[in-house]
Amino acid sequence: MSVADTDNDALISVYDRDARRFRTEWSAGAESATHSDKFINFHTPYLPPAEGHALDIGAGYGAHVHELESRGLEVVAVEPAAGMRAEAETLYPNSRATWLDDRLPDLAKVHALGRRFDFMLMNSVWMHLPQDLRSQGMASLATLLAPGGSFSVLLRHGPAPADRPMLESDTEPFLALAEAQGLSVIHREENGDELERDSVSFTRLILTKSG
Ligand SMILES: C[S@@+](CC[C@H](N)C(=O)[O-])C[C@H]1O[C@@H](n2cnc3c(N)ncnc32)[C@H](O)[C@@H]1O
Repeated sequence: MSVADTDNDALISVYDRDARRFRTEWSAGAESATHSDKFINFHTPYLPPAEGHALDIGAGYGAHVHELESRGLEVVAVEPAAGMRAEAETLYPNSRATWLDDRLPDLAKVHALGRRFDFMLMNSVWMHLPQDLRSQGMASLATLLAPGGSFSVLLRHGPAPADRPMLESDTEPFLALAEAQGLSVIHREENGDELERDSVSFTRLILTKSG
């Protein structure tokens, strides 16, 4: 196990321990009808028809998993923090999503499913992946995307909060790794912070892999 793996373990244990607090803090906006509509309306052009395969990497307490399921998609959710998976189970008891205790960079359990995904989401996760694991992580992600599929990524920029370590997740290095793995950008936009924190901003990217 490398030092970087240990750092990611320590971070995941924060999400595990404080899952209920994070859910409460994030959910005020995230579970409102407006937020949900915004997420689905924005992503609609990139979603496959019902029964298509979707993957949410670092799915947290499952708010986006729920939204993707509501579009009839078959969702696999990857979340390494047990506390977060437990919050999802409490919040969405009727969910049919497959939850996996798995993580970047390998996503070994997802690969073991032997499936390619029509839509993939990685929302505010990349800043937790140590630099020396990112190239391997991108190779793993690119392999899981079906040709012609869409990969939506939210990159967080700005200082880390006091409760969790975070690394930079600048857009250009991310894109360089993505393009080296045969992914290309079809949409890019810069967004402010929905929780109105100073100095925090986000980049939304939609990537695709040619067929
Ligand atoms: C800021 S939260 C975002 C949660 C969710 N995507 C959302 O938008 O609400 C980051 C999530 O990434 C997960 N995470 C941390 N390291 C990870 C890794 N190596 N692979 C996959 N997920 C990871 C954490 O456990 C946490 O649930």
